[in-house]
Amino acid sequence: MAATIEDIDACVFDAYGTLFDVNAAAAHCRDALGDKADELSALWRNRQLQYTWLRSLMQEYVEFWQVTGDGLDYALAVLGIKDDALRQRLMDIYMRLDAYPEVKDMLTTLKAGGLKTAILSNGSPKMLSSAVKNAGIDDVLDISFSVDAIGIYKPHPSVYQMAVDGLGVEAGRICFMSSNAWDAAAAANFGFRVVWVNRFGQPQERIPGDHEQEIKTLVALPPLLGL
Ligand code: LAC
Repeated sequence: MAATIEDIDACVFDAYGTLFDVNAAAAHCRDALGDKADELSALWRNRQLQYTWLRSLMQEYVEFWQVTGDGLDYALAVLGIKDDALRQRLMDIYMRLDAYPEVKDMLTTLKAGGLKTAILSNGSPKMLSSAVKNAGIDDVLDISFSVDAIGIYKPHPSVYQMAVDGLGVEAGRICFMSSNAWDAAAAANFGFRVVWVNRFGQPQERIPGDHEQEIKTLVALPPLLGL
């Protein structure tokens, strides 16, 4: 098959929302959350990300596990939910979130095609290794890069630089996938070749950085690379 995106040596993936389903924790607790599950999930994700940006600007880095818990506490407070056991249950599930169904086969295809595969994520090393293990994708992933090594969150350019340095592949030969439109834009602005995995049908962000392709799920990635 002819590749649409040519001259790629490595595929680098965002983790949360791209490989792992960030809505899975609230979805698994629908019995307790009822019709608040979707709102809780959206508020939680929103605050989690905002806290990464705020803490980076404030130069007050703490690892993503704490930021995730802080975001959840804020979301629970907005919805007036006081339930320590439920909080613990949500956090336990977040530690081993479900992967999206196509992820394992897609990574297997990329590896068979001779590409390097990696995660580049805000997630702490423990969160990433737990999610990777739970998804059974250790064998088809070469490495996971966590921002924890540098103490600042996406979209700081030094985060994207970690993949260049760690893989020994220049930015223009790295294909980067994210479902987070702001992450896709920032990665393109850095110099990666970007495929925006627009799982949630979102409009494009109005920040610098142009993705090269847009797909709905990762099923569509290997054909873009000629695999
Ligand atoms: C990550 C967040 C941005 O995995 O989803 O880095």
